[in-house]
Amino acid sequence: MSTIIDGKAIADKLTKSVAEEINLIKKTNSGFVPGLAAVLVGEDPASKVYVRNKKKSATSVGMEALDYYLPESTTQKELEEYVRKLSEDVKIDGILVQLPLPAHIDQEKIINVINPDKDVDGLHPYNVGLLVKGQPRFVPATPAGVQYILSESGIEVVGKHVVICGRSEIVGKPLGLLLIQRNKNANATVTMCHSRTENIRNITKQADVLIVAVGQQNFIKADMVKKGAVIIDVGTNRIQDATRKSGYRLVGDVDFENVKKIASAITPVPGGVGPMTIAMLLKNTLESAKRKNLVFD
Ligand code: GUN
Repeated sequence: MSTIIDGKAIADKLTKSVAEEINLIKKTNSGFVPGLAAVLVGEDPASKVYVRNKKKSATSVGMEALDYYLPESTTQKELEEYVRKLSEDVKIDGILVQLPLPAHIDQEKIINVINPDKDVDGLHPYNVGLLVKGQPRFVPATPAGVQYILSESGIEVVGKHVVICGRSEIVGKPLGLLLIQRNKNANATVTMCHSRTENIRNITKQADVLIVAVGQQNFIKADMVKKGAVIIDVGTNRIQDATRKSGYRLVGDVDFENVKKIASAITPVPGGVGPMTIAMLLKNTLESAKRKNLVFD
């Protein structure tokens, strides 16, 4: 029988510690309020839910949360100008441009306009470079959340074979870089699989820790998992469910019911990695505000 990892409880604890620190800062002479700006272009329903939840959480910990909803018709130039203004705004410590952007926008060019000192999503090439160099500053929230879940759950990855399925800029790639860092919550042996990997089952079967971020329901089945492996499911796939008020429910990338019989520990969807993403974003924003205001731990 496997342990079901309670990502929500781990995220709630981290969020509470961020709130306590902000409360303390507000009481001291420095007394600043960290500001997080989220920019959403278009009408993607899932993105709207993410941005709404981010605002709710940021406000609940005492941050100033500013949301900017721009129409689908926003041009590249207009969006670049918008992000440039936010980058210069002294009230704002963290900028998040919700991805994916509409197809007519060049995403990479927009990310390049974000001030790297406010890039709490860790997507700017400067912050990616720091991670590659072994000097991480802002690490994307989902990979940072996965590493945090592993360490808080007492799952040692040093020297272990961690297999990551998915090579996205936002999860797979930075997660691989994070877990090969030379520190106690990393030092793993990482293999990265992707859509062109041959005989993927042979590789996933070798994983001590299998992390899945491919965006495909039931991608990992029981026969792809070694007995006793730890499974971290980053997938958030919406499937229709007429019994729900929303008309849908979330499922991960892993066949949870069958894989949990083999795994030693597994994250559920929802309630696993998802809640950690927002908690880590808040932590990154607090760290950014502390850097700006010269507050050191
Ligand atoms: N879309 C889905 N997850 C994320 C995230 O962590 N950051 C941004 N910017 N967009 C996302």
